[in-house]
Amino acid sequence: MSIYIVLLGPPGAGKGTQAQIISGALRLPHISSGDIFRENLKNQTDLGKLAKGYIDRGELVPDDVTIAMIRERLSRPDCRDGALLDGFPRTPAQAQALDEMLVDFAGKVNAVPLIDVPEAVLVERLTGRWTCRANGHVFHEKFNPPAKPGICDQDGSELYQREDDKAETVTRRIRVYLEQTSPLIEYYRRQGVLLEVDGTQSIEKVTEDLLSALPRREA
Ligand code: AP5
Ligand code: MG
Repeated sequence: MSIYIVLLGPPGAGKGTQAQIISGALRLPHISSGDIFRENLKNQTDLGKLAKGYIDRGELVPDDVTIAMIRERLSRPDCRDGALLDGFPRTPAQAQALDEMLVDFAGKVNAVPLIDVPEAVLVERLTGRWTCRANGHVFHEKFNPPAKPGICDQDGSELYQREDDKAETVTRRIRVYLEQTSPLIEYYRRQGVLLEVDGTQSIEKVTEDLLSALPRREA
């Protein structure tokens, strides 16, 4: 039986941080829509060129493009037993498309942890975030500093500040989340799969809460 987990929460809630920590324990690949877009941006693909304007403005990339990208990613062999989704779905249309595509993959959304963090905290988290150039590992200058400033602890690559982590774009992204993504909270609550986690706790405590609540693949 495959397992699909959707990490839900506003920008800066800690979805990427937690996914990088728990994907090994859950034995599920971490699929981040934002990371896939940034990889395409770096490689200057057609998809990257299309997504760039939306991402830089803090808006969502259109549903049809995003849904097709995720469908292709989930059809690869490493997602045979499921996936840990981070940043997708983000609109009701994407959530519905995911439900439909998982029927084709003989699965369903099994659990949706909502990592909840108030708006005031999000801005400080995002404007102090440093991201690794090679693999998207995430640090924070105050809350989770790397051992050597500017260098990723995990792969030694350069750390940079995301273009969309400027204060004004962050505010826009939070507004977009409230308008377009927060309706998914009710959508998944009605399906009985929503798990609320307090994202204001330490990174370690959030990990502990997630791991104790989430379903595991059979051995
Ligand atoms: P995406 O990359 O998904 O960005 P996001 O959703 O805005 O989320 P973030 O990555 O900013 O936050 P996060 O929750 O992962 O937080 P993190 O763990 O890094 O999307 C970017 C753009 O791509 C979108 O704006 C859109 O344009 C496009 N896009 C992506 N998916 C799309 C979709 N499905 N449809 C359409 N468009 C899409 O943590 C943040 C910081 O806080 C870090 O510095 C971290 O070290 C720190 N931190 C984490 N946890 C804690 C803690 N517990 N205590 C203290 N600090 C913490
Ligand atoms: Mg992220």
